[in-house]
Amino acid sequence: MPQTGLKVGLIGLGAMGRNLALNMSHHGISVIGYDPSPVEGCLPKGTLVGSSASVPLLLTNPRIIFLMVPAGEAVDQQIQALFPHLQSGDILVDCGNSHFKDTRRRSPPLTQQGIHYVGLGVSGGAEGARGGPSMMADFCPEALSEVLTLIVARDKEATCLATFGGSGAGHFVKMIHNGIEYAEMQMIAETVHLLRYNAFLTVMQISDLLEKWNEGVLGSYLLEITAKILRVKENGMPFIDLIVDEAEQKGTGYWALEAAMALGVSVPSLAAAVDARALSSMSQLRSHLRRSAITPVPLSIDLQDVHDALLASKVCAYAQGFSVLAAAKSTIWPNLEVSEAARVWQQGSIIRSTLLKTVQQAFLRTPGLQSLLLEHIISTLLAKTMPGLRKVVVAAQFSGLPVPALASALGYFDAVTAPRLWADLVQAQRDYFGQHGFKRIDKEGVQHGPWGENP
Ligand code: 6PG
Repeated sequence: MPQTGLKVGLIGLGAMGRNLALNMSHHGISVIGYDPSPVEGCLPKGTLVGSSASVPLLLTNPRIIFLMVPAGEAVDQQIQALFPHLQSGDILVDCGNSHFKDTRRRSPPLTQQGIHYVGLGVSGGAEGARGGPSMMADFCPEALSEVLTLIVARDKEATCLATFGGSGAGHFVKMIHNGIEYAEMQMIAETVHLLRYNAFLTVMQISDLLEKWNEGVLGSYLLEITAKILRVKENGMPFIDLIVDEAEQKGTGYWALEAAMALGVSVPSLAAAVDARALSSMSQLRSHLRRSAITPVPLSIDLQDVHDALLASKVCAYAQGFSVLAAAKSTIWPNLEVSEAARVWQQGSIIRSTLLKTVQQAFLRTPGLQSLLLEHIISTLLAKTMPGLRKVVVAAQFSGLPVPALASALGYFDAVTAPRLWADLVQAQRDYFGQHGFKRIDKEGVQHGPWGENP
């Protein structure tokens, strides 16, 4: 193991923390670790200490301490425990999935003491933490950069580490990553479901098909692992059939929706994916209403249409997620380079995929781009694949198979490209009952309708 002379602190030695520690040791970085209930042998003898307060005492300047604890109260508790032992110049890094607003709240009292408080979004799960994750930082002091450069994922020569322009930005970008992650997972799951129950393919046939798709424009880590998951059997049965069909969530997807709404950005596919998890978990209601068996009408669609449906819907989900980043750049962090998100997600991250290169190039070409749908290469791709999505959604809905995320993408595309929307009537209704006013196509300023005069 190459010794670098670098030594850092790491608080939180769960699956992510342990693997990050292994990654660091592998690159010659010594780790002083603390966890309230450490797993036996998680760090070499003598490097595991008995309290958070002891961690900074064993480090030399510039002292870098990573927090890898669950988002929320645990982060505040650790900061409180460390605060009296920190000094100006120290670097404290929150690597968890913290809410970006929490990161913005935590930063000022630490910054006032000269402590660098860095929100660092980390993607890649336990495997990524071990082998090189994708990293999204608020900012990156030089000493921290020296450490992260060694442990982060790489795309050819470049590291998959980027800074996004200030307090909270790293966790914001990670949160949108997760919103897209939820959408892509749901879209793949719906596609597999309809291939299985409406097109009557076996799990093995579906796995083969996904493997083939994975070699093309649909290539992604999530598609790759889905193909692998479908191959697993227990006692001759597909293992997937032994898993309760209720999806859980820790909240980052939901936060992404809140942030999108606050910025006025429409993200129906991200919302459909979060909602689909909530719906699947309404076990009592589902047990009352459950139909006795799936009685599908066979889908009369070809597999190329299903491929196109997945691709078109994924592009729409990307468009939605990246529009939130673009809006955050316009309003909160002017230095948030959207192309950098697309770049650092290409390796190490859970949503790494072939398509991200095209997204990166689009935002490099037009840094102020508000939507991917405005890019020629994306609109051409959608023109080619939308008919497949339309056929698949109609066929699935006709046969009673729920495809909320795929349908949301179709609805999004049809709405943003519609010559006229129903919003005129909504405006009229608002004005009728609440005199809220509306804009007219032929006059300036806020207007009201002649509702009383024309009952
Ligand atoms: C990643 C993931 C990860 C996330 C899990 C679980 O990029 O490595 O996004 O950070 O915590 O995917 O999230 P849910 O429990 O909400 O599905």
